[in-house]
Amino acid sequence: MARVWIFGQDINTDQIVPGRYAPIMLKNEDDLRLYPFVEHRPEFASTVRPGDIIVAGNNFGCGSSREYAPLALKMVGVGAIIAPLFARIFFRNALNLGIPCFTADLTGQLADGEQVTLHLEEGRISAADGRELTLPPPPTFLREVWAAGGDRTLLPPARTLSGGGRLMRVCVIPGDGIGPEVLAAAVQVLRVVAPDVEVSEAEAGWATFQRVGVALPPETLGAAREADAVLFGAVASPSHNVPGYRSPIVAMRRELDLYANIRPTNNALQRSPDGPVVDLVVVRENTEGMYIGRERLEDDGDTAIAERQITRRASTRIVRAAYDLARSRAAAGKANPTVTIVHKANVLRVSDGLFRTVALEVAADYPNIRTEEMLVDVAAMRLAQQPERFDVVVSTNLFGDILSDVACIHGGGLGLAASANLGEGRALFEPVHGAAPDIVGQGIANPLAAIECVAMLLEWRHRMDAALRVRAATTAVLTHGPRTPDLGGNATTAAITQAVIDRLTQ
Ligand code: NAI
Ligand code: MG
Repeated sequence: MARVWIFGQDINTDQIVPGRYAPIMLKNEDDLRLYPFVEHRPEFASTVRPGDIIVAGNNFGCGSSREYAPLALKMVGVGAIIAPLFARIFFRNALNLGIPCFTADLTGQLADGEQVTLHLEEGRISAADGRELTLPPPPTFLREVWAAGGDRTLLPPARTLSGGGRLMRVCVIPGDGIGPEVLAAAVQVLRVVAPDVEVSEAEAGWATFQRVGVALPPETLGAAREADAVLFGAVASPSHNVPGYRSPIVAMRRELDLYANIRPTNNALQRSPDGPVVDLVVVRENTEGMYIGRERLEDDGDTAIAERQITRRASTRIVRAAYDLARSRAAAGKANPTVTIVHKANVLRVSDGLFRTVALEVAADYPNIRTEEMLVDVAAMRLAQQPERFDVVVSTNLFGDILSDVACIHGGGLGLAASANLGEGRALFEPVHGAAPDIVGQGIANPLAAIECVAMLLEWRHRMDAALRVRAATTAVLTHGPRTPDLGGNATTAAITQAVIDRLTQ
């Protein structure tokens, strides 16, 4: 038996799969199965079963000729599409893929959710109550193409979504200072927009170190490994050497090989109507550079040495991540895609020399993206002065850390800046800010950076509908208030969180 999905007139390819998802989808064609009707009818992708039938009104598949619209329907295993009229290109693409399309108007004769049996060869539908509906009998050549699964090979097999892909386990590590305050807010929001997500909690940080003598307990690392993703608050690392203490976030990035730290900034909410548009991303290498923890005091006690590690492997993959991101952003409509490679190779000739060489080699693989080089000091000044001239900025660990804090000024400061730490199939999301000891316990920390981490997490997991809901809610709160003191208001963390949740549930 197949379920009938009734759709209206003029279903266009953008309703089938919105064009702005292209950058995410096209990275991994296999993920396309998550998108059919993601906004138009969100329950479709998650509950459609192979063989289900789409019954629609006139003009199905109109709009731009997006090949991935029929492909997405193919990948979830749609058994047939029945409509009185198809857009020509859609029809052809569907035929190429072997999706049976019947030209008939059955919208008045079948109900949404009804269970039927489709006899494809004969062009006939038997309803559960015994009704028989006839379709135009398909010509032999069509039946042959359908039987062959289309004329395009190598498609991943269709499967249902119910078993995998969407369920998610998130490990929450609140940490120190305002970390627990803002993460409590983030988890509240996550529970509203994605109630199916399992949340577990683990500890790390300075308070943990003081209690158990280790800042990142093995159980925490294990829990982070087991989870699909980690939400991390902040930790309060002392600025002096404490024997046995290592920053748990730095350790976790290395242990989980979360090599790309992605820190976006945009000024959509700060911009004056005629002001420049800032929409940039700092991509920071996350596993080596100055953060490898190889520092020592020479015997005289007056000389300290820090080692800086740059490898071809880590440089290649971070620069690739930057170019791939620039390419996705271009596909989503960003003009003049550019990667700015930031280094200090004029002084750090060997280490940044290697980073620069590798970066320029990678750049050659992306001829459609403009490449520029900039020394880190000039980059800092330009990021402060002319942020609108940047698109994707890629740099080594320490430089990337500093530059992303500079950049985040344009997006409303640390209270709003969120970041993703990504590795192969793994991710940790954290606000850019730290433990903020000056405001801890006062209930006035801005939770919006942590809440944006939830949106990034959902986006990473291809749950665009939920991610966009979170962003719409936070945008509304930022526009209309209330605001925390860092943004000139006097509201509390709890009030902001409630305002976001009210927007989500209203
Ligand atoms: P910080 O980011 O904690 O605070 C800098 C300033 O921004 C403070 O005035 C603070 O009140 C304000 N601020 C930060 N987040 C805010 C929020 N959500 N709402 C309102 N105001 C906010 O940086 P700081 O003071 O340099 O470092 C404090 C501690 O945090 C240190 O122990 C440091 O090691 C740690 N830290 C941890 C990080 C992490 O866990 N990823 C990152 C940066 C610092
Ligand atoms: Mg920082």
